[in-house]
Order: sequence, then structure tokens, then C-alpha cells
Amino acid sequence: MKKVTLGVSGSIAAYRAADIASGLTKLGLDVQVAMTREATKFIAPLTFHDLTHHPVATDMFVPVQGLGADHISLARGADVILISPCTANLIAKLACGICDDIVSATVLATMAPVILAPAMNTVMYENVITQENLTQLRKRGFTIVEPDYAALPCGEVGRGHIADTERILGAVRMILGRGGELQGRHIVVTAGGTQEPIDAVRHIGNRSSGRMGYALTEALRDRGARVMLIAGPTTLLTPFGVEKIEVREALEMRDRVLEEIPSARAIVMTAAVVDFRPESPSSRKVKRGDFPSTISLVPNPDILNEIKGDVIKVGFAAESEDVVQNAAKKLAWKELDLIVANDISRPDSGFGSDTNQVTLIHKGGKIEKLPLLSKWEVAVEITDRIVELFKERLSL
Ligand code: CTP
Repeated sequence: MKKVTLGVSGSIAAYRAADIASGLTKLGLDVQVAMTREATKFIAPLTFHDLTHHPVATDMFVPVQGLGADHISLARGADVILISPCTANLIAKLACGICDDIVSATVLATMAPVILAPAMNTVMYENVITQENLTQLRKRGFTIVEPDYAALPCGEVGRGHIADTERILGAVRMILGRGGELQGRHIVVTAGGTQEPIDAVRHIGNRSSGRMGYALTEALRDRGARVMLIAGPTTLLTPFGVEKIEVREALEMRDRVLEEIPSARAIVMTAAVVDFRPESPSSRKVKRGDFPSTISLVPNPDILNEIKGDVIKVGFAAESEDVVQNAAKKLAWKELDLIVANDISRPDSGFGSDTNQVTLIHKGGKIEKLPLLSKWEVAVEITDRIVELFKERLSL
């Protein structure tokens, strides 16, 4: 079981650390919490004790029964250290090597990677001193989960609001995934649906939520891959450590994919690309009375089919009938290594649902029907197959 030391410092965002501690334990990690004295004014150590089932360290000079929780054992035992929230004061101390509390002393004494999730008033965050301290820490290998731009409890609106819990957990997952089977592999994932403009406000689109593709970027990142996400419009949060290019139309997605492919080792096309586009979209909003009774459409290029060269190609097939036969035809025509066939006629599978029942069809003819799984579980299964494909393709 991997071990995380969660350091909590004195910010109002300390309450969010409870959520983070809980999220880390749900990821199957062994979590040990250390708090500064100021943090204990915002949230009780008992909260973390109950969430992590470990005693909580709050003072360098007071041993905790059953833990040996001095800064050295906290520092040595950790696979990763996460400080969340991390105040301006703690950032300044870490940048200077000051270690006068259990959290800063643990960081100075560790060889493990350290992640900081800053949270503070905007002016304090934007102050050149804080920014220079963060630059120093980045140079020394610290990972910073940038705070969000939002309304802050002090009444100001600006940058300084602690990042979303999922992004902070994503940073931990990414760091723990370093050295995984996909370490150093550059993988392109497309997600969401494209939108083909009819006029300045209307488009032809589909119901793709993007969730399957986003889950895949996380599963690949967690195994060490460098992931480039090329996504159509969605409201989903970009996972930590995943680079993202936003696109709208199929032609734009094609161009971005073809630009990325020369440096990539694999592409996973989960995107629901609209197969045709209005031939002459209007650049203005067409008035109701002026709308033509027919819109002439032209076909969009098939992106997967245009990708050639030594790269692993994984496609998805959204099918409502003859699922396996139709998907197998796409596998052959698009020269794929693997296709994930999705029966979208089922209410619990495909567009908009949280679950997917998929059949995996391999290039060599092997067919695997997976049970109904969450999209996250499907993403992990597909990632396992991609790891196998890399093992088979030694040239990549
Ligand atoms: N795809 C693509 N370019 C397109 C259309 C689809 O690269 N213009 C990719 C999808 O991302 C998916 C796979 O091809 O990985 C199959 O997409 P799907 O929509 O199921 O099939 P189509 O090839 O579009 O065929 P049809 O819509 O007739 O089923």
C-alpha cells in the first residue's frame, strides 16, 4: 500500500483537507496527516484521525502514541507528500528551508516528491514574493496545483481559491504513477463530440458527454503516460497533468490530431466526430424566416483513417445494431489495433450514461465481451490492453 503524508496548514481551506484525506483513502492509499498549530484552529485533528485511522501529528516535540510521528518518520515513510492547503507563510518557509513546525520539518527531511496546493488571499498569492518562492520551489522539483480564480472568503474575487479536490487528487495519482508501464509514452486521446456550425449560434452535434475520454486520460496518466487531450466542447474539468487542446469542429480536430501524431506513440479516439458538416455555414445568425428548408451537407474526413505510420491506434464504435460485426468492419477499414464497441441502444451504455457495456475487438480477431462497468473501470481495462499492445510493439 502506497503511503501519503498529508500536511495541513492554517487557511480557511483546511476544511477541504478532510475531503482530500477521505479521497486519498478511497484511492487505496495509506494516509498520515500532519498539521501546523494554526491548522488545528480551523479543523480538529480528530477529523483526520477518524478519516485515516491514524493518529495525527501536530507538534514536533510531542510524540504521538503508536505513530512515532516525528518529522523524520513522517518524511521517510512517505511515497509522496501533499500539503493542502498550503499558505503563503508555509510556501515562504519551504522556499527558505525553514523547518520550525511539523509540516515544514517533514518536507525538509524528505526525499519523496512534494505537491503543494496553495490557498490564500489573491493579493498575497499574486505578491511577487510568493510568486518568486513558488518559482524557486518549482525549480527544485515541487509540483504546484495552481489555485483557482474564484470568490474568496475574504470577499475578493481572484486567484487564490484552493484548486478543485479532483485536481489535487489527480496530482497525487500522477506523481504515484510516474515510473508506471507507460512512463514516457506520449499518447493522444480525443474526447467529446464535435460541433459543425450552421450559422453563428446553431450547430449540428451529438450527445457525447466526453466522460469516457476524460476517464481514459486519467487512467493513462496514472500509469505514467504523457497525455495530450484533444477535446470538443464539454464542461468537464481538465484532469491534472493532462495537456488539453480545445476544438469545436471535426476539421479542427483532424488538424490538431495530425499535428500531434508525429510525436505520439498511440492514439485513442473516443471522440464522437460528426461525419458531415453544412456546406456553407453563415457567419451571422440566420433569422427564423430566412432559414432554407434544406441544408446541404458535405462529408467530414475520417480522422482515424487518415492516421498512418508506426502508432498504436485504438478506436471506439458507437453501434445500435449488429454491434460486433459493424465494429469489426471499422477496425479493418481504419487499420486499428483495437476497437471498443459500444451498444448505444442500451439505456445503461454509451452517450450520457455513467456506465458502459463494451466489447473489445482486437486486430488479430480476439473478442472480449466485458460486463457492465463504470466508465472509469472501462478506462482501466482499455489502459491494460494498451500496455499489452506496447509490449507487443517493441519498436514503439
Ligand atoms: N472517427 C473518426 N473520424 C470521423 C468519424 C469517426 O476518426 N470522421 C472515429 C471515432 O472517433 C471512433 C471511430 O472512428 O473512434 C468510429 O466512429 P463511429 O462514429 O462509431 O463510426 P463512423 O466511422 O463514423 O461510422 P458510422 O457513423 O457510419 O457508424
